[in-house]
Amino acid sequence: MTANELRQKYLDFFKEKGHAIIPSAPLVPENDPTVLFTTAGMHPLVPFLMGEKHPLGTRLANAQKCVRTGDIDDVGDNRHNTFFEMLGNWSLGDYFKKEAIEWSFEFITGEKWLGFDPRRLYVTVFEGDDDAPLDQESINIWKEQFKKAGIEAEVAGADKKVSENHRIIPLGKDDNWWGPAGETGPCGPDTEMFYDVSPEKGQLGDTFESLVNNFRLLEFWNDVFMEYNKKADGTFEKLIQQNVDTGMGLERVAVIMSGKDNIFDTEVFQPLIRKIEEISGKSYHDEENKSAMRIVADHIKAATFMIADGVVPTNVERGYILRRLIRRAIRQGKILGIENNFAAKIAEVVISEYKETYPELERESGKIAEELNQEEVRFRETLEKGLKKIKEIIAESRSAEKISGEKAFYLFSTFGFPLELTKEIANEHGIAVDEENFHEEFKKHQELSRTVSAGMFRGGLADAGDKAAHLHTATHLLLAALRKVLGEHVQQKGSNITGERLRLDFSHDKKMTAEEIAEVEKLVNEAIEKNIPVKCAEMTLEDAQKSGAIGVFGDKYGEKVKVYSIYDFSSEICGGPHAPATGELGKFKITKEEASSAGVRRIKAVLE
Ligand code: ALA
Repeated sequence: MTANELRQKYLDFFKEKGHAIIPSAPLVPENDPTVLFTTAGMHPLVPFLMGEKHPLGTRLANAQKCVRTGDIDDVGDNRHNTFFEMLGNWSLGDYFKKEAIEWSFEFITGEKWLGFDPRRLYVTVFEGDDDAPLDQESINIWKEQFKKAGIEAEVAGADKKVSENHRIIPLGKDDNWWGPAGETGPCGPDTEMFYDVSPEKGQLGDTFESLVNNFRLLEFWNDVFMEYNKKADGTFEKLIQQNVDTGMGLERVAVIMSGKDNIFDTEVFQPLIRKIEEISGKSYHDEENKSAMRIVADHIKAATFMIADGVVPTNVERGYILRRLIRRAIRQGKILGIENNFAAKIAEVVISEYKETYPELERESGKIAEELNQEEVRFRETLEKGLKKIKEIIAESRSAEKISGEKAFYLFSTFGFPLELTKEIANEHGIAVDEENFHEEFKKHQELSRTVSAGMFRGGLADAGDKAAHLHTATHLLLAALRKVLGEHVQQKGSNITGERLRLDFSHDKKMTAEEIAEVEKLVNEAIEKNIPVKCAEMTLEDAQKSGAIGVFGDKYGEKVKVYSIYDFSSEICGGPHAPATGELGKFKITKEEASSAGVRRIKAVLE
């Protein structure tokens, strides 16, 4: 069974059980600034798990694109990867434990479906604590399921030893409680399903933990019974409805079905690996090439999906993760002897493998190729020199036993080496990097706000999705461009920003011509392309006026005001917040120019 067939089977099964099939949400969460990427199918459904009505009803199922970036540096072994698909079925206050577990069992073992051997199936359940009791109900339902297959399933004892008879294992919150996805929100006890992938190794008998760590038992599905809401004070309350949230790892199931011991050897990754073999002229079966080929395949696949969902390589937040993935893949490609641009060729294979399920890949194929090529060109320009330089730096840093933050920053700013790449190369040479000192250097040089630079390296949680700040900065650029194109009489008369667009009202008494609009767009986009830092200075109102800053000089400002300046392009009194640099904004586009009131025009614009 191919991955495409498997996905379809899952959706067909739940359709038969009355579920509406919904499309995957984008990898970039639409309304959740607290996470960089969608990491589970339930993310986009949080409002509905909390009680809002979903237009398609109370039973939903889908395949969701997910990215988990916590383990990027571990990709290359046989366990880790960044992009994956989660197959999920949801009950929004509809069915609960009984149906969820019965259907899981039916799908896993049914001849028409996965047809797995029930004797190789093991499950964990929540053992209970002060917040919620032992999940006896799930235990009973599991016992009934196994009984149908002629298996007497017992609960493992306090020693957590697993055997043919003891296949239901109660565990604590660390293992059998899922969510919330952020600090607060829907969550609950879960039951996880594991498969014995090597029965030829003989009887089980070890503890559950060691069987998992030794890859004997592989988790592949999780049924979460979401009936709690975690509150900001850390306590739990019952939700107004009982939900089910499940997640089956498509790649994990592919591993089980293939009989291999890792996802890279399955058909989920082999088409990509074959392409890498073709481009490099090297063989995947040669142990020394394996890790590099796996990294290239995983990273370019994740990058392809990210670009299709609108992410572009930058130095902050999501763009930084994307940049790291692409640059790490390029360096691994170089280790394989690939000296020319190749990322877009790998992306073509990703697109052809996935385009039916995720049509955005084909729709955005031009953009995917362009962004990958551009990033590759940018990085290759300095890669050779940077690699030479880092070797020198490693040699001269030996006695200090670590590369100073200053030097790591130099590699970043001059050769475009993300900190993690420097760390990886340093690590290969048995030497560390002074990260703390790197961050200090970074702050000093970039003059970025503390939150932004810290956020960037923590994974960007702090400022993720700060679209409003971007639109706000774009409003400043727009006003400055209007004054350049139409004249200094242009003054701001009003401004309004939603998550989607900006709106600026300004003094001007005639309709703008198409040429004027095009010129304004061009000026703004040029300023964006130059990636100019947005600087903020506090000064007295008088000094602000003297410096030439524009703004409303009424008495609504206090004695001290903030002046945001974008080099000589724009300087405005304003309360903020703004993007740290214009390069983050994306492409600026005026969507409407119209009259607002006498002598006042109105522009609506977006960042694409
Ligand atoms: N939300 C659950 C998970 O990600 C299903 O495992």
